[in-house]
Amino acid sequence: MLDFSFYSPTYFAFGKNSESRVGELAQRFGATKVLLHYGQGSVIRSGLLDRVEESLQEAGIETVRLGGVVPNPEASKVYEGIELSRREGVDFIIGVGGGSACDSAKAIAVGVPYDGDFWDFYKGEKKVECALPIATVITLAATGTEGSNSSVITHVENNRSKWSIRSDLVRPVFSILNPELTFTLPPYQTACGITDMIAHIMERYLTNTEGVELTDSMCLAVMKTIVHQGAIAMKNPRDYYARANLMWAGTVAHNDSLGMDREQDWSSHKLEHELSALYGVAHGAGLAVMMPAFMTYQIGHNPKRMARFASEVFDVEPSDDLTAMSEEGISRFRTYLKSIGMPLTLRDMAVPEEDIPLLASRIQMNNGDLFGFYRPLNRQQIEEVYRLAY
Ligand code: NZQ
Ligand code: ZN
Repeated sequence: MLDFSFYSPTYFAFGKNSESRVGELAQRFGATKVLLHYGQGSVIRSGLLDRVEESLQEAGIETVRLGGVVPNPEASKVYEGIELSRREGVDFIIGVGGGSACDSAKAIAVGVPYDGDFWDFYKGEKKVECALPIATVITLAATGTEGSNSSVITHVENNRSKWSIRSDLVRPVFSILNPELTFTLPPYQTACGITDMIAHIMERYLTNTEGVELTDSMCLAVMKTIVHQGAIAMKNPRDYYARANLMWAGTVAHNDSLGMDREQDWSSHKLEHELSALYGVAHGAGLAVMMPAFMTYQIGHNPKRMARFASEVFDVEPSDDLTAMSEEGISRFRTYLKSIGMPLTLRDMAVPEEDIPLLASRIQMNNGDLFGFYRPLNRQQIEEVYRLAY
């Protein structure tokens, strides 16, 4: 087990109608004027945005609205939000919606107090030293942004780069988690969310760090729970307990309580980010394609670890043939992903096969010659993983 510092100060208000507490909580954390940042209309149609605004106003807090964040949020909206927040004297940002709205809110929060271009942080050229406080009212159990220290933005004008920041300064000071807000999700988005949270755990589970039995066991238990509760929510989208378990699992999967003690991999995410950057695919769908391909490619690195995943998450019979167990586990994982409506191949997502060298070159350009930590991959191996996914 590695030494670690783990700081996760988010206040979570979980449960039915918890959005009615936004005003009280924003006041407690010092807000006087809030930017409400949201996506393309789901929170307007559901009436959530009005309820949130009302709660803030009842607490004597002024509000400014900025909507229109697209899935795979773009830098152009962040610039707009920074300018609006400065002009209006906003001192607190609340993302209302999915991961995209909340990540864009985080980017605005780091951009407002900074004299330069907020993109400097995402390029990795500057370290975040100051940010406005952020909160989230999450409507999609998926990214874990409601408890995470990260934010991912795509800069379309800058070679469609999809880059991220990690800083404890962008952990929300509070997050509202009402599972009922996820009842209205289209099945495809629910499935993308299930896939994303499993991926957040897999990126941590695939490690070379020894002596991490506690978090390994937690990783496997949470993945198994997501698989089971996910199947229930897909069948009955209004099953409160399935939605509630998924919602908290999404947070636990990515606030780093399952990974702070180990070296983490993140290859599947980086392989995916090039897909959503170039072709606009949903993040979870891209992961459904890349994660099993990456796992298959890496079976030989540590068959024991992959076989344990197969046995504990997908009930594969234990045997001495760890490779066969691993293959069976990944096969059952793919069958599960298909059953919830996820694509399984790059072909399913209409990604042209001739783009594979371009995808691999972008990975290397953004990550250096050797990529990932579990078993680092060179250029040719990255292409092989994309070909497996094809
Ligand atoms: O835009 P609106 O109208 O709100 O509609 C959204 C959007 O079309 C809709 N939606 C959300 N909640 C809904 C709903 N529709 C009906 N009812 C609801 N309750 O769902 C669509 C997708 O929303 P989006 O926010 O894009 O999805 P998600 O939460 O999966 O976020 C994806 C983004 O987060 C990044 C991804 O790369 C991607 O850019 N990630 C962020 C992470 C983080 N900050 O820690 C970690 C992740 O690994 C991920 O990379
Ligand atoms: Zn993710």
